[in-house]
Amino acid sequence: MIKKTAAIIAGAGSGHRLGADLPKALVKLLDKTLVEHAVNALAPVAQLIVVTAPAGFEDQFKKLLGDQVTVITGGVLRSDSIRIALAAIGNEYEFVLVHDAARAIASTQLARDVVAQLEKGEQAVIPALEVVDTIKEVDANAYVRNTPERANLRAVQTPQGFSKSVLAHAHQSAEDATDDAALVEAIGVKVKVIAGEERALKITNKSDLARAIAILLPDKQKQVRVGIGTDAHAFSKDPARKLWLAGLLWDGQVGVDGHSDGDVAAHAICDALLAAANLGDLGSNFGVSDPKYSGASGATLLAETLVKVNTAGFVIENVAVQIVANKPKIGTRRAEAIAAISAALNGAQVSVSATSTDGLGFTGEGKGLSAIATALIISA
Ligand code: CTP
Ligand code: MG
Repeated sequence: MIKKTAAIIAGAGSGHRLGADLPKALVKLLDKTLVEHAVNALAPVAQLIVVTAPAGFEDQFKKLLGDQVTVITGGVLRSDSIRIALAAIGNEYEFVLVHDAARAIASTQLARDVVAQLEKGEQAVIPALEVVDTIKEVDANAYVRNTPERANLRAVQTPQGFSKSVLAHAHQSAEDATDDAALVEAIGVKVKVIAGEERALKITNKSDLARAIAILLPDKQKQVRVGIGTDAHAFSKDPARKLWLAGLLWDGQVGVDGHSDGDVAAHAICDALLAAANLGDLGSNFGVSDPKYSGASGATLLAETLVKVNTAGFVIENVAVQIVANKPKIGTRRAEAIAAISAALNGAQVSVSATSTDGLGFTGEGKGLSAIATALIISA
């Protein structure tokens, strides 16, 4: 049986050192706040996410994070916040990840690595980096007391992973600690250290925001290309023709005529991707008369297009498609459509939107469907 993992994201601090006029977790890094980045990174790994918010900001957190995340009011010290969050996690959870919203861009893979160690039987797992500076222990008068051997030192990050019972036991004392592993060490439990990552940096000062942006934005040496594609097909006179659109079969709707399955959304995306990579278009790549593609599904064409784009040295950053039609109503199956197209494109970021045209043109008159797509690709 799969053991369940809960995650606590500590976001109740004020962010005094960052000096913003709102709590640090609500500071924006590119398109999202720090706490949203952190939640997104842990969502694929944790079945429950509890976020601690500073008193007075709970509603703002809830609005940003939606119903899938439990938002609770944090405490005065970080350890208080963790203790309050722990109390909100039920007994069905075997493992708990404790993460700082401040380490907003730590990867999902890092969280997976931590959980993998817990699944192997470790009780406490922390990611850490080797230190490059020599570290001195100093006294209150700024005299060096001691120089620990650098090779034995590690700079510790989050998410840290624990067996829930161990973490709860460690937090029974009211001690404060900047990391939870210290409390676990104090009760005599062995703490396993695994390789951390540069992107799990803790955003503390303004310069850390700049570092995080440099990590997130594509390398300046890389080539970024955009492409556009459109497609249109007329509704079939054959009432038995099936409608395929955006990678989905739409039961009870008449399909469109075409050599392939006539999925205008998939075709527009293929054209946009091929255009971005300067590889021609659907016709020049797949040949409208090639019997191999007679009845080809949108998913097949997307997958084959992806291979061509990858082979040309590019990876997909995102694709967006807009379907122009009176019906079907795309909104009712948007998430499914996104998932189908994304799966055909090996997990790429996909958005799907739709519009009608106020009765104008062939789509407005209900004669057919069209779609327009853009794609952004980056040299791998
Ligand atoms: N934190 C918390 N509850 C507290 C204090 C801190 O949940 N009472 C969280 C912060 O939101 C942060 C993490 O613990 O995500 C690590 O703390 P730190 O980086 O020090 O953040 P702040 O305390 O907000 O920043 P500063 O110390 O600069 O005020
Ligand atoms: Mg602090």
